[in-house]
Amino acid sequence: MVNSASAEDYPKTTHEKAQQLQQPLPETAAKRAPTQAELTKANPDLKIDAVNEKFAKDFPRQYETWAKTADQTEFHREVEDDPRMIVMWGGYAFAKEFNSPRGHFYAVTDVRNILRTGAPKNANDGPQAMACWTCKGPDVPRLIAEWGEEGYFSGKWAKAGSEVVNSIGCADCHDTQSQEFKDGKPALRVARPHVLRALDTVGKTFATSDRTDQRAGVCANCHVEYYFDKSTGVNNVVFPWYKGRDVDSIEKYYDEIEFKDWEHSISKAPMLKAQHPDFEAWSMGTHGKNGVTCIDCHMAKKQDKDGKVFTDHQVVGNPVVDNFQNTCARCHDQSQETLVKTVAQHKADVREVMIKLEDQIVKAHFEAKAAWDAGATKEEMKDALQAIRHAQWRWDFAAASHGMHMHAPDVALKIIASGLDRAADARAKLAVILAKHGVQQPINYPDISTAEKAWKVMGIDIEKERKDKEEFIKTVIPEWNKEAIEKGLILTPPPTTPEK
Ligand code: HEC
Ligand code: HEC
Ligand code: HEC
Ligand code: HEC
Repeated sequence: MVNSASAEDYPKTTHEKAQQLQQPLPETAAKRAPTQAELTKANPDLKIDAVNEKFAKDFPRQYETWAKTADQTEFHREVEDDPRMIVMWGGYAFAKEFNSPRGHFYAVTDVRNILRTGAPKNANDGPQAMACWTCKGPDVPRLIAEWGEEGYFSGKWAKAGSEVVNSIGCADCHDTQSQEFKDGKPALRVARPHVLRALDTVGKTFATSDRTDQRAGVCANCHVEYYFDKSTGVNNVVFPWYKGRDVDSIEKYYDEIEFKDWEHSISKAPMLKAQHPDFEAWSMGTHGKNGVTCIDCHMAKKQDKDGKVFTDHQVVGNPVVDNFQNTCARCHDQSQETLVKTVAQHKADVREVMIKLEDQIVKAHFEAKAAWDAGATKEEMKDALQAIRHAQWRWDFAAASHGMHMHAPDVALKIIASGLDRAADARAKLAVILAKHGVQQPINYPDISTAEKAWKVMGIDIEKERKDKEEFIKTVIPEWNKEAIEKGLILTPPPTTPEK
């Protein structure tokens, strides 16, 4: 039931959009990641104003609503809630900590605080690469303009500790230097070269896109699947869209280039980690196909007390609950209660099958370990491990795309079903190998009923990780903040976390 009297400002239901998605990638599209020579050079003419507070005076409505993303403090500790993830990410930093997203205001705070980034003592120390800053704020395009892509993407994460200090803000989405912007128009912009390249690949060249595609395009800066391409000698961010944006095409691309994010610590499977393919999931769902963008739901238009219409910059996490009148109700006739229930039902349905898939994948990892322990050979294990890789990739694609149950519920279910198929295939193959090596089945599966138990099973000393992080927050973070203030990069430091 879609309300025909939708506001003029909203895109019409266009079947043209729906068809665009079905079209093959443009002939001219690149088919591969950039080479070292193709990485973008420094561009001193591109000035990026990363300090968000500087826009408060000229754009009070947008600034004040943007600042309200700080009100969204809540997040879930996912691996504690569901310890299966600790097994599935065995040998990968995600097993230590993974949280649901919260307000944009906390992006810098949260990447500093998460156990995954470790506790580096100096610029060359620590487990992560520079690329981990890439979706945290407007200092990133600023640094790429100053240092070039090679300069930005080389080195360790701690290298930019006192540089990436402003959280997701104005210059991530707007050409703030343009006259248009000064006149109060959106002047939307993507300033990260790897994002512009990826949009070209799928025929959505930003500069020539219409308003609808540009609105979704600014979110595609960050809410996408990506990987770190090492072929240029630095860890640069690449979107794997060269064969398409769906789960099968991306898997095919990764298989062809023999990419893996890591080798699983117990099954030894060559694993893929899906990031947050929200843009990809949205574009496959009903709203994406009908030209209803992220903005229509997460950054709706709003009237201030003087009747002036402007864009609400709060980027709400759950618009059907928290901003119904300005979003869903502009197009749908159903009551809020009905739509809240519909979305909640989709969430429950997706979650139910997702847990079933997790159970299968966890068993497969332990069975693979049992097979190795019994003397299985690489050759024997190869196909089973590939099936584990594909099963978990499918699970992760659906799980990591936050809100996929809303953005494309039918696609989410289909992806999980195909994951169940791959997991069944892996376990059938493993059963044959186990039988051949005389292992009695079912094997003994370790107790992973709590996170503490699962960390122990997987050999993670969580207490040490936490202590090191605490020390890092106490000693290194204040130094980073001090340097950033001295360099004039921030007016106020990112908050230390108000946690709920
Ligand atoms: C995550 C992306 C994003 C961020 C961050 C962001 N904006 Fe926007 N902004 C948008 C979008 C999207 C629109 C609406 C575009 C449209 O209607 O087509 C918009 C619209 C605007 C407009 C045009 C008038 C209006 O309200 O529609 C101004 C001015 C503006 N933003 C200023 C700012 C300022 C100042 C900041 C930082 C405090 C900021 N924006 C941060 C995405 C962003
Ligand atoms: C520069 C990168 C970047 C851009 C651009 C960006 N996001 Fe985000 N977004 C993030 C990160 C990182 C988080 C998680 C922040 C955290 O948890 O600390 C996030 C969180 C969110 C959340 C969760 C909010 C909550 O309260 O639960 C929503 C919704 C969201 N983004 C939507 C959007 C939309 C819509 C756009 C485009 C208008 C957009 N984002 C543009 C990086 C970005
Ligand atoms: C038709 C409305 C609609 C559109 C279009 C839409 N979203 Fe959402 N999105 C929602 C709703 C509703 C939720 C909350 C679902 C829930 O919590 O059950 C959500 C959830 C999210 C979340 C997870 C928030 C959290 O805290 O877990 C992110 C991130 C997000 N959306 C980003 C995007 C991006 C990026 C786009 C565009 C590429 C987009 N959304 C398009 C309605 C929409
Ligand atoms: C700009 C208009 C617009 C907005 C805003 C909008 N929708 Fe929709 N919605 C549509 C259109 C168009 C369809 C497809 C209808 C069709 O195919 O008959 C649709 C379909 C749906 C469907 C059925 C398809 C599916 O994916 O499950 C649900 C549920 C839905 N919308 C929920 C929401 C919710 C919840 C919100 C607010 C967070 C929302 N919509 C905001 C236009 C909109």
